[in-house]
Amino acid sequence: MDNIKNYISEHKDRFLNELIELLKIPSVSADSAFKNDVLKTADQVKLSLEKAGCDFVEMYETDGYPIVYGEKIIDPDLPTILVYGHYDVQPADPIELWTSGPFEPVIKKTDKHPEGAIFARGACDDKGQMYMHVKALEFMTSTNQLPCNVKFMIEGEEEVGSVNLGVFVKNNQEKLKNDVILISDTGMIANDIPSITTGLRGLSYVEVEVTGPNRDLHSGLYGGAVANPINVLTKMIASLHDEKNQITIPGFYDGVEDLSREERDEMAKAPFSLENYKKALDIDAVYGEEGYTTNERNAIRPTLDVNGIWGGYTGEGAKTVIASKAYAKISMRLVPNQDWESITELFTKHFLSIAPAGVTVKVTPHHGGQGYVTPTDSIGYKAASMAYNDTFGKKPIPQRSGGSIPIVALFEEELKSKTILMGFGLDSDAIHSPNEHFGVFNYLKGIETIPMFYKYFTELSK
Ligand code: BES
Ligand code: MN
Ligand code: MN
Repeated sequence: MDNIKNYISEHKDRFLNELIELLKIPSVSADSAFKNDVLKTADQVKLSLEKAGCDFVEMYETDGYPIVYGEKIIDPDLPTILVYGHYDVQPADPIELWTSGPFEPVIKKTDKHPEGAIFARGACDDKGQMYMHVKALEFMTSTNQLPCNVKFMIEGEEEVGSVNLGVFVKNNQEKLKNDVILISDTGMIANDIPSITTGLRGLSYVEVEVTGPNRDLHSGLYGGAVANPINVLTKMIASLHDEKNQITIPGFYDGVEDLSREERDEMAKAPFSLENYKKALDIDAVYGEEGYTTNERNAIRPTLDVNGIWGGYTGEGAKTVIASKAYAKISMRLVPNQDWESITELFTKHFLSIAPAGVTVKVTPHHGGQGYVTPTDSIGYKAASMAYNDTFGKKPIPQRSGGSIPIVALFEEELKSKTILMGFGLDSDAIHSPNEHFGVFNYLKGIETIPMFYKYFTELSK
């Protein structure tokens, strides 16, 4: 890949400005108030793929938001890379905690990003990382160096579970045929410690509702005599972990693979400072399942977390009331071999069984997906490793991540190909949080590394 560094420094400002324009459109898929903006973003992505040199670009309508598909097929005998990304973003709230508008991108310096980072919702997850691929393609087509075929599939519903993408993939196997899937929607250890994500956790997400009396009651007249749904719900939730912080749902750990001592020792070699970890979060201690390190707890072990809980009176002052209903949203992060639909069933059965008399409990499943691990001896992994080695001057470390991209397991099942997760974000980039950002260094490094992957993947495929 001749002249990639020159090309990037020559076009750096335009690369940044184009991303900034994309970030200005609030493509929040979870909130229908943003529908037109999500659609507008899809149009922009389509246009950008056309400009970057795809010779066929099409918008595929779904029951939800459209999927943008683009391709450049130079020779059917050459390998084909399928790039996946998402143009939708998480809601920006709580907006008051942002130091600048979530959809008014600005570049600011941070400790981790002395060269500056773009602050905006979606900067890292995933508009910034997705757009690196568009710019990498632009470089390869405009300098006549595209070494293989490429297909792009950019969806607008990742943050709400990718339900319609699953249908699209099942119905378009021939169109999506590929030799490897390439995704930048994860992170790496640090800007001077490159890593490649080799695993993702699965997910089961449920909502629970506990109903007591048929109306809100005076907490003096009725308190102590009827079940208080909030008291009951919190007690039920507390019982889901034991004193070792293990999950108490019967059957929950069936199938969970215990990593060997060697594998765990290998994992522990990845640079990690517990002190810095605690400092970055302003906590005086970490917390979690007994017998596991912090990195193990958030990568190779399953978890159960309340994501939101509400009910009763939360306004100003005091109101003496026993609420009729209490609610919680609960996520379970799963590891490979735990089937998310079975886990959802186990949860439901158990949660209903622990409800005391005096309340009724309803469990509503939301979305979910399977976990994923990718081998490090595949051509795809080797090509990625060589690419990072060239651009970072260091061999990347394989690392399993705690996050989820549920569609990846489905890609393997339906399209029979491995996914390579070349993520360039940092854990501190505040994805899904206020003040999300993406390092300028990371953005440009991504654009530089991706073409090297194309080159090595094509060479290793011969
Ligand atoms: N890009 C993230 C997932 C991610 C981030 C994986 C960093 C590894 C490292 C993705 O957009 C995401 O947020 N996924 C959701 C699940 C989805 C079904 C809403 C998640 O992990 O909570
Ligand atoms: Mn993402
Ligand atoms: Mn996300």
